[in-house]
Amino acid sequence: MIVKTTEFIKSGTKPAHYPEGDLPEIAFAGRSNVGKSSLINVLVNRKNLVRTSSTPGRTQLINFFQVNQDFMLVDLPGYGYAKVPLDVKRNWRPMMETYLSKRENLVGVVLILDIRRVPVDEDLQMLEWLRAFSIPPIVVVTKCDKVSKNERAKQSAVIMQRMGLDKGDLNYFSALSKEGKEGIWDRIDALLAK
Ligand code: GTP
Ligand code: MG
Repeated sequence: MIVKTTEFIKSGTKPAHYPEGDLPEIAFAGRSNVGKSSLINVLVNRKNLVRTSSTPGRTQLINFFQVNQDFMLVDLPGYGYAKVPLDVKRNWRPMMETYLSKRENLVGVVLILDIRRVPVDEDLQMLEWLRAFSIPPIVVVTKCDKVSKNERAKQSAVIMQRMGLDKGDLNYFSALSKEGKEGIWDRIDALLAK
């Protein structure tokens, strides 16, 4: 993918807020603080297009970013963080379920996992939702710069076992080294080409 321009279009919580038009969308889902926004920034070669933060729960709305004249990258709010305000937490589930089940522009979801962690129930549920709504998943295992090669192999086995995935399903990534960037674009390109 050659990214010429990336532009923030809008934020929203419900269908009335989604952008008009029929550009295909690739959304990014995962736990709070896992690195969704950082991954988007690396993919589009921008340091701060999407706000990243060491404070979990930074992204609380669905954010739409247009790439070239061609498609949207959609940053979804993270799940599984105890300290986001209660009303934000209550709204999360219907907001996500509505977007994933109703958004016709959506052609795939990048599900991001932390290489150092055992996937939580919400990670599993997200994968089940994607299967139930027939949305192709791209599973990215991020923060790979934080572990050794041995640890990566060990954690991969844990993740595959817990998520019911095969080795070929995992895309290793690091926002620091940018390892994996091209491979993830290849997967996104394949979904956009369908
Ligand atoms: P929310 O919007 O709060 O759900 O978080 P997010 O998933 O968008 O995470 P974000 O991209 O804001 O990153 C969270 C923290 O992890 C930040 O401090 C990032 O710098 C850090 N981070 C993200 N990706 C990587 C990575 O690949 N390696 C390392 N070492 N740190 C990372
Ligand atoms: Mg974020």
